[in-house]
Amino acid sequence: MLATLRSATVIGIDASPVHIEVDLCFGLPRFQLVGLPDLSVKESRDRVHAAIRNSGFDFPQHRIVINMAPADLRKAGASFDLPIALGVLAASGVVTATGIREIVIVGELSLDGTIHPARGVLPIAVGARRDSAAALLLPAGNATEASVVEGLQLLPVRTLSEAVTLLNGGQAGWPARIPPPAPTAAADDAADLADVRGQAFARRALEVAAAGGHNLLMIGPPGAGKTMLARRLPGLLPPLAFDEALEASAIHSVAGLIPPGGGLLRERPFRAPHHTISDAALVGGGAQPRPGEISLAHHGVLFLDEMPEFDRRVLDALRQPLEEGRITISRAARAVVFPADLMLVAAMNPCPCGYSGSTVRTCRCTPPMVSRYRARLSGPLRDRIDLIVEVEAVPIASLDQSQPSGEDTSSVRARVMTARARQRQRQPRLNARLPARALSTTCRVSTAAQALLRESSERLHLSARAYHRVQRVGRTIADLAGAETVDTTHIAEALQYRLIE
Ligand SMILES: Nc1ncnc2c1ncn2[C@@H]1O[C@H](COP(=O)(O)OP(=O)(O)O)[C@@H](O)[C@H]1O
Ligand SMILES: [Mg+2]
Ligand SMILES: [Zn+2]
Repeated sequence: MLATLRSATVIGIDASPVHIEVDLCFGLPRFQLVGLPDLSVKESRDRVHAAIRNSGFDFPQHRIVINMAPADLRKAGASFDLPIALGVLAASGVVTATGIREIVIVGELSLDGTIHPARGVLPIAVGARRDSAAALLLPAGNATEASVVEGLQLLPVRTLSEAVTLLNGGQAGWPARIPPPAPTAAADDAADLADVRGQAFARRALEVAAAGGHNLLMIGPPGAGKTMLARRLPGLLPPLAFDEALEASAIHSVAGLIPPGGGLLRERPFRAPHHTISDAALVGGGAQPRPGEISLAHHGVLFLDEMPEFDRRVLDALRQPLEEGRITISRAARAVVFPADLMLVAAMNPCPCGYSGSTVRTCRCTPPMVSRYRARLSGPLRDRIDLIVEVEAVPIASLDQSQPSGEDTSSVRARVMTARARQRQRQPRLNARLPARALSTTCRVSTAAQALLRESSERLHLSARAYHRVQRVGRTIADLAGAETVDTTHIAEALQYRLIE
């Protein structure tokens, strides 16, 4: 008897169909897997065997050949357990459902027949819908995650025997549509910009960064509020559109980071990896490539606290994704692409001890130590950071009442969204992404502002790159002001955000 089933594997964040054929024939009992399964799939043989017997079914005493197609696609992971087990049971006549080949099936089995949640079920659900599958049979633990895909019949199951019962019961017994999880109300303790007292300059830089999509570096002593400010950037960005949320959630799904009962990401992600992170964990990697922190920050913010402490190699690995908005991980078999369109916020102390220039404590660093520390910032990554601001600590005594609490997040976000709408009308991308050659045509700059730009770039010995950065930031400041033409005030402000070159 031959049974044919459908499953899927995830490449990057896209599902690719996999067809599984199970053939039972007479001969010595044997269980053979063909069609480029890797070691992790070969292990499913033992799980499938145990799960079938421990679920109270007979394991057929036949020669069993399982073929996975397409043959040139490397199959990995445990999520083929369930389709293989159901294929064996279909070939031996236990599963009698006729429409089984129209159902996409994924799930990992444990030896007792329990079905574990799998990674990447959200993109698999998207793929099943795209390929017009009749249903998706999936681990119950992934049901809410998959429920965000509209128009797809879900068949969530907890155990192998439950799956058999559901399939044999026919379409009449299929469960009703699972409603996607309700959007969670914003938590009361959500980080709001109104919590930040004083810091007018840093707050303004944060607004400019949000408006133009500019990467930002904050330099200041411990306790100055750098982390506090960075955490408030995602809230200043426009709310996630459905497509953006779906894409960001698919990345989290592939990384196995959607909690049980979780659905679409509601808020823009904020990722803050520690400086001891490896380059594989930051940009993604592994034999079966998994997204790294930069992809988990897709459509959101990546915060690198204590940036000079990161390994040089790790920082260098950021360059390509920051330029392209995605990361390509090359493997012998194929290249896998993960999206990584993010805003970078970096923070650092002014010197190794943290208190250079402080009025509260004395710095214990020698001038060479300070310059060595700052020099770690130079290089290609520096070229991708348009805004640099110094953040002074607000004196503790005045943190409570005497410092005005500033505007709240929603007021600032409204201006950011208006400024972004202006950019969209004029050009296909945010100002931070404008290529140098587009600047002269896209950025209308007044004659006086041009003169200021020229004069300051000579006086400050601005490099060509720095010159372009000032123009981009100036354009964003003009957009926030609702001005068609970039004028001297905009350029003058932009010049303040380039502390070190
Ligand atoms: N401007 C400020 N307004 C309100 N609270 C502040 C401010 N600056 C610092 N704080 C308080 O100090 C704590 C430490 O700030 P943090 O952002 O961690 O500093 P840093 O990252 O620069 O070391 C914050 O959690 C916050 O409670
Ligand atoms: Mg901090
Ligand atoms: Zn110091």
